[in-house]
Amino acid sequence: MGSDTGLENSKRFLATWLIGGLVAGLSVMGLCAAWPELSPLSIIGRKKKRPIRVYMDGCFDMMHYGHCNALRQARALGDQLIVGVVSDAEIIANKGPPVTPLHERMIMVSAVKWVDEVIPDAPYAITEEFMRKLFDEYNIDYIIHGDDPCILPDGTDAYALAKKAGRYKQIKRTEGVSSTDIVGRMLLCVRERTSGDSPSHASLQRQFSHGHGQKKFDDAGSGSGTRVSHFLPTSRRIVQFSNEKAAGPDARIVYIDGAFDLFHAGHVEILRLARGLGDFLLVGIHTDQTVSVNRGAHRPIMNLHERSLSVLACRYVDEVIIGAPWEVSKDMITTFNISLVVHGTVAEDDDFEKDNRNPYNVPKSMDIFKVLESPLDITTSTIIKRIVSNHEAYQKRNDRKGESERRYYESKGYVSGD
Ligand SMILES: *[C@@H]1O[C@H](CO)[C@@H](O)[C@H](O)[C@H]1NC(C)=O
Repeated sequence: MGSDTGLENSKRFLATWLIGGLVAGLSVMGLCAAWPELSPLSIIGRKKKRPIRVYMDGCFDMMHYGHCNALRQARALGDQLIVGVVSDAEIIANKGPPVTPLHERMIMVSAVKWVDEVIPDAPYAITEEFMRKLFDEYNIDYIIHGDDPCILPDGTDAYALAKKAGRYKQIKRTEGVSSTDIVGRMLLCVRERTSGDSPSHASLQRQFSHGHGQKKFDDAGSGSGTRVSHFLPTSRRIVQFSNEKAAGPDARIVYIDGAFDLFHAGHVEILRLARGLGDFLLVGIHTDQTVSVNRGAHRPIMNLHERSLSVLACRYVDEVIIGAPWEVSKDMITTFNISLVVHGTVAEDDDFEKDNRNPYNVPKSMDIFKVLESPLDITTSTIIKRIVSNHEAYQKRNDRKGESERRYYESKGYVSGD
């Protein structure tokens, strides 16, 4: 019943729109008769240029480059991308507490360079009422969703209305990462540590967290640690995420480096500040080996390529060095014409200050080093701690989702598109 009246409404809407268009067309003709220099073609041409507005929604909890890639694909289907972010209350009601609260998720989504507008209170499952609001109030032309079916509790297709109205478009699922997978990596890393970090375990963990796991391995614990990353970094993906522009002449180039593991709102905020100090932000991303040496064998959670994509998707970033050295050398500063090297006050590797191998000795001696007050008190460890403190709930949720992921990979076939 509801969808019938919905169809009626959209027919009525279409009729109103057509009549409106006709009236507008007639008055344009009238105008043109009065002022012949106002050619109808130029007006029609301008009308055609109305940007196509596309909409996509999600929880964007523990946002990763898979989310970013979906947003990139959605944006390519229109001119402006409006993103609906599901509220904390809706996430709690539907699948338990989110790891990242709404204000952090808003920072993350807004910082993605393909996002034009953000709506902070999207429903968990899209409703007809909300869809109509999108069409009528937000002037959305198309609703975009991944190629996985989205079924409401009553068994119906959540996007039926948009499909009927011809205002639904689909994007291909991004392979290689899911929040389930990332939580799995974190939980595994916690178990590794509590079980005494035996060398063989540590090496398995390394292999695993770096996405090179070739076969499933039995976890001595609950049996849910059998996760294998499906991420296959391609040069094409890196190009898609890159900015085409190099630094312009006379540009003031700012450099910031770090692990940027589990890219979070704290990272985004320090990058925003750093970008504000110049015209071009160059981000050095440390190698997996460098991160392990400084933070332990169980880090990083995300490998170098994964971390690079997350940083590249951020609108404040102009360029990244995929595998930056620990020390900022004179040669690097010259090669990239770096004017300023910055470092945030909230960071995990603060020990280097006591060390005689301070990575910033050279920029300090050149007087081009600056410490930035980090706007948010969040580190990668904060995120891991949140998961661990809610260990059991996440473990259960993950096992459930892990099962459906496994089924997906078993029955998966080739899908074209990028
Ligand atoms: C190097 O950076 C400075 C700004 O710090 C700029 O004035 C200069 O033009 C840059 N050099 C080149 C060759 O772009």
